[in-house]
Amino acid sequence: MIIFGIETSCDETAVAILNSDGHIFSNKLISQIDIHKKFGGVVPEIAARSHVEFLPHLVEEAFKEAKISIKDIDAIAATGGPGLIGGVMVGVMYGKTLASCMSKKFIAVNHLEGHALVPRMTENIEYPYLLLLVSGGHCQIVIVEELGKYYIISRTIDDAAGEAFDKVAKLLNIGYPGGPIVEQYAKKGNERAFEFPKPMLKKAEYNFSFSGLKTAVRNQIHKLGEISEEDKADVCASFQYTVSKIINYKILQALKLFGSKFPNSKNIVISGGVAANQYLRNKLGENVKNLGYKLFYPPIDLCTDNAVMIAYAGMERLKAGFRSNLDFEPKSRWNLDEIIY
Ligand code: KG4
Ligand code: ZN
Repeated sequence: MIIFGIETSCDETAVAILNSDGHIFSNKLISQIDIHKKFGGVVPEIAARSHVEFLPHLVEEAFKEAKISIKDIDAIAATGGPGLIGGVMVGVMYGKTLASCMSKKFIAVNHLEGHALVPRMTENIEYPYLLLLVSGGHCQIVIVEELGKYYIISRTIDDAAGEAFDKVAKLLNIGYPGGPIVEQYAKKGNERAFEFPKPMLKKAEYNFSFSGLKTAVRNQIHKLGEISEEDKADVCASFQYTVSKIINYKILQALKLFGSKFPNSKNIVISGGVAANQYLRNKLGENVKNLGYKLFYPPIDLCTDNAVMIAYAGMERLKAGFRSNLDFEPKSRWNLDEIIY
């Protein structure tokens, strides 16, 4: 079977074509970073208009590159939410129209499910597994029991981890999106230069909170006054170190629950844009290895938003006999445990 995937939930316009063996025929993406950069964040209305402009060309290019005709595909998967509603509407309308005109199956994919499942495309990861989903909009620990069955252990009560990286980069005026830039700066800094607070590290507290950490970073930057490149590196390294400590602590908490529910499952997956961070991967990998668990993560280009993950989740659903109705409504909010299956 061949599936065509569309992702438009934020500031990446992306399409992909893949088959049921996970072979990628085409993976196309236009990042709108340069368009939104000057505003210091994504402007929803501009993002939606850009998706309208970019999508038709991207679709044409993808099919040309794949040397596949639209007639040859079995289904179309589009991100149905959660995300910026204007963008989600563009992708869903495009997908539905194509499905309707070409008499193909349509599958509305939950964006988070895309992040959650795509590691299974490149690695042999059996259900159930413990998932740390860390992106610009989300920070949660989830037990992925099987396709469509997700048990959310923890969420963030304020900012997402990626959002915290982006805000620190903004405070330091080093660019957008902040994650990869902070990671580069951190390589040159001293991670023990500043002691930042690690909120919510109380016993039996599963949820995340990053807003206190962000405020502490802001206060430290003000205290430094005129800030050198070396200071910036130290702030980034100390911040990243603190995020890593928080994440590792929360995973250890979650493992107690996961271990009691599924004692024979030893797989942990980190996914979402922040999973591209090599420092965080390495630290988490080492820690869980000591506990007898193995950490998996997708290749970097499948961590950040892309359409392969949407096509892949769509393919898992297609194989399980699932399809969406053409009256599916795009959703700005859509939790993993609200997916009806
Ligand atoms: O998954 P994603 O592309 O979009 C959402 O669904 O949110 O994640 C984007 C987020 C941004 O906040 C970005 O700064 C962060 O992922 N990110 C990183 C890294 N690469 C991207 N954060 C830390 N380290 C990185 N290397
Ligand atoms: Zn995402």
